Amino acid sequence: MIKRPKIAIIGAGGNVGAAVAQWAVVKELGDLVLIDLKAGPAEGRALDLTQCGPWEGFNNNFVASDNIEKIAGADVVVMTAGVPRKPGQSREELININAGIVKGICADVKKHAPDSVLIVVSNPLDAMVFVAKQVTGFPRERVIGSAGVLDSARFRTYLALAAGVSVEDVQAIVLGAHTDKDMVPVTSTAMIGNVPVAKFLSPEKLKEVVENTKKGGATLTGLIGTSAWLAPGAGTCLMVEAIVRNQGRILPCSVELNGEFGVTGAFVGVPVKLTAKGAESVHEFELSAAEKDAFAASVKANTELMEIARGFLG
Ligand code: LAC
Repeated sequence: MIKRPKIAIIGAGGNVGAAVAQWAVVKELGDLVLIDLKAGPAEGRALDLTQCGPWEGFNNNFVASDNIEKIAGADVVVMTAGVPRKPGQSREELININAGIVKGICADVKKHAPDSVLIVVSNPLDAMVFVAKQVTGFPRERVIGSAGVLDSARFRTYLALAAGVSVEDVQAIVLGAHTDKDMVPVTSTAMIGNVPVAKFLSPEKLKEVVENTKKGGATLTGLIGTSAWLAPGAGTCLMVEAIVRNQGRILPCSVELNGEFGVTGAFVGVPVKLTAKGAESVHEFELSAAEKDAFAASVKANTELMEIARGFLG
């Protein structure tokens, strides 16, 4: 029998987990295992999605459970467990609650799905990727944080709105930490239809776009009352797709740096090649002087947060 990819989503009773599941069934990426602390929410999300099948034209068998052992043999594990941020709260403030949750679950991932590619979505993102890497001991290509895809989608969206163009033709990337203060929307290489963005937008307008991008998550949290989930889910599912379909997409993801961009040991967003092996390679490029400084500040902030996270590793 031809094997379908097995994709486990941990925290699937929550909004982001459910959004990843939704995009994954629509794209028919594989068999989904939805795990949550309580069986009810996982089963409820599975049933709700199953009932989309008649109109959306898919058949999908879900496993939904509170038993993490059901992730056994998963090709990809998506970790969305943890509390989302509330209005006015920073992602960094979640570390005291989420570090313990992520640590516990990663020990289970190591035990039950030792060959999986682990995608971390829990916040504060980059520090949680570090926790996942430490606990699982997986090679760096198999512990990948999902945030750059989301931040870059927000950057592209704000660029398109400001320039009055189709977002499809906007090519732009956000590097660095997934924090309001320190993420690095890269303007020096951003293009619209292969034309530099500076040809469309004044420096003031570009600055406004960068600021909107950086506070993109906080804006949504303020409007909705909790953390966003549709774009985070779509971005994460794009990564799942690139892996299970071995696409070789180049997407910004958070991984441990081994000298790339002049950094060793920190976890921040950089362009990686996503294949069936996970983040197969990291791709460096030249940043402007200001962006280099911003990237260095981002790494510094992340290193400080990693030190706090280290305290939870015990
Ligand atoms: C955001 C959260 C998911 O940026 O980190 O919306």
